[in-house]
Amino acid sequence: MRGIRLCGSGAAVPATRLSNDALSQRVETSDEWIRSRTGIGERRVAAEGETLTSLAAAAGAQALQNAGWEPSSLDLILLATSSPDDLFGSAPKVQAVLGAERAVAFDLTAACSGFLFALVTAAQYLRSGAMQRVLVIGADQLSSWVDWSDRRTCVLFGDGAGAVAVEATGDADALLGFRMASDGRRGENLTLSQQPQRQELLPGISAQQGGFSTIAMNGQEVYKFAAREVPAILQQLLDDTSTSPSELDWLLLHQANQRILDAVGERLGMAAEKVLSNLAHYGNTSAATIPLMLHEAVSDGRISSGDLIATSGFGAGLSWGAALLRWDGPTS
Ligand code: ACO
Repeated sequence: MRGIRLCGSGAAVPATRLSNDALSQRVETSDEWIRSRTGIGERRVAAEGETLTSLAAAAGAQALQNAGWEPSSLDLILLATSSPDDLFGSAPKVQAVLGAERAVAFDLTAACSGFLFALVTAAQYLRSGAMQRVLVIGADQLSSWVDWSDRRTCVLFGDGAGAVAVEATGDADALLGFRMASDGRRGENLTLSQQPQRQELLPGISAQQGGFSTIAMNGQEVYKFAAREVPAILQQLLDDTSTSPSELDWLLLHQANQRILDAVGERLGMAAEKVLSNLAHYGNTSAATIPLMLHEAVSDGRISSGDLIATSGFGAGLSWGAALLRWDGPTS
């Protein structure tokens, strides 16, 4: 069986920072409340002219540069996002911006699990021999979909994008194992759903007019879901691969909430400094959190070649998953 290699990472965030203090001028909250409950200090918000496509393309271009790849060498661009600029898909627009004319490009929607699911999907094309080079991007612009008057949700989310260049190899495999799961029965705990708005076309015939409501979340249920399912799926993955937590160099979880990161790290018996976190700077950027965090830790030299990383994405759907990765790309 062929394997995959993670060859380079990239990231992009909007320039505009929105601090907790600034946000507390808009909704009744405080820096102390947000930091103590979530670990978030500020988030980035896309300015006029900044789009999901521009963020995703910038992250993707950086990953290509770090991998030393020409855009024309790509076979596939897989864009994990729940907030495309266009419901028909933003990946082809990213392809056009990058000039990756040979690549097929499509979106994959799985909320905060999106990047992990996309990476595993990419690996299948690579392992089968169907493709040689894939750019996997996780990007979200949830600032467009947050109710900015709802303090229970608006403090959590931010905009950003991250990307990884992944290649088929004949030798060692960077994806040592994975698991993925969904449970639509619990999906109502976190939604960004269509707004019921019928328009009458003709007597007796009506159609649903497009349009979405804002993010709705039952925070406590989502917390319980994450605190239960994430350690469980990580433990299953470690069992599958006969790996002990002590062998892991890093735990790279979806950045939703510092309390979730701490709880999962403790359940696995990981030292706090091995649990990567950049929540303080970006909040929850949904599909972008994992590649954004990966790129940061690779760029600042924390993650180095050969490091073993357990990663887990989880969120709306509900959906969750875990993968055991060996970083083999260039390091700073
Ligand atoms: N500032 C001040 N007070 C607030 C805020 C805020 N931003 N938000 C809620 N409160 C108040 C509530 O109104 C409530 O007040 P009340 O008791 O007078 O009604 C009180 O704080 C407690 O509210 P809870 O919802 O019980 O707060 P909780 O301790 O559960 O913390 C939180 C909320 C941080 C959202 C928590 O439930 C959580 O982390 N859940 C996980 C959800 C998550 O991470 N979602 C991210 C998206 S999904 C994903 O990526 C997995």
